[in-house]
Amino acid sequence: MNNPTINEFDKADFQGVYEGKTLISSAEITAVPWDIGRPQPVVQDILEKGQKNRLLDVGCGLGLNAKQANDLGYQVTAIDSASKAIEHCLNVHQKTGIQFQLANACDTGLNEKFDIILDSAVYHSIPSSDRSAYMKEMRRLANDDAEFHLITFAPSQHGMPKPLAIELSEIIQLAEINDWAIQSVERVTYKGNAGAISDFQKKKNLNILTDENGLTCLPSWHVILKVKI
Ligand SMILES: C[S@@+](CC[C@H](N)C(=O)[O-])C[C@H]1O[C@@H](n2cnc3c(N)ncnc32)[C@H](O)[C@@H]1O
Repeated sequence: MNNPTINEFDKADFQGVYEGKTLISSAEITAVPWDIGRPQPVVQDILEKGQKNRLLDVGCGLGLNAKQANDLGYQVTAIDSASKAIEHCLNVHQKTGIQFQLANACDTGLNEKFDIILDSAVYHSIPSSDRSAYMKEMRRLANDDAEFHLITFAPSQHGMPKPLAIELSEIIQLAEINDWAIQSVERVTYKGNAGAISDFQKKKNLNILTDENGLTCLPSWHVILKVKI
């Protein structure tokens, strides 16, 4: 039976885009939109300020955030559900101590706890019907004093369209249900590859701004969650 609540973003083909296929069917997105050739600036800020403990990078993609964390002294486990992404990370970052693993963020199979959980543009990549399971699984993997950094697209006239852009009320509701307390919320910018989404921008009539390096500036939430004790 068809689920009427499933949208085109819920069906995004992450494995496909790492193989040069289109990420979604309504537009040509055949280059990796989050490949900016360096760690996300907003993630870099978080990593520089954090306690250098055990870190889980969920949906690590090409592994540049995980590599940055490793270089800064974190003990890093990085997971992704796209085998192509993990293959890439194992090849490119093989000389690091990072534990890369193929795993679904909603049911990782991991049996360890983390002090920092990093979600860099993954929450909105998970189908909406699976997001509560995701928050629950991250809660299971969190130490009592862990920080869960969740960076996800926010609604904005210069941002991604809904439902890819997430209402803060949704995150607050799922946090509450899954025993997370919101510590802070701020608006940040997630950078992306402008060329990769040019057809998407045209077809969806978007007005996304770029920075001096030609990278897209995507308005996002940075929510810090703490375990509710
Ligand atoms: C928008 S990309 C962000 C990649 C990386 N975190 C970054 O900021 O560069 C989302 C990533 O999450 C992965 N992903 C999507 N759903 C996932 C799931 N259920 N479990 C694990 N990874 C997932 C995708 O394969 C993709 O690599």
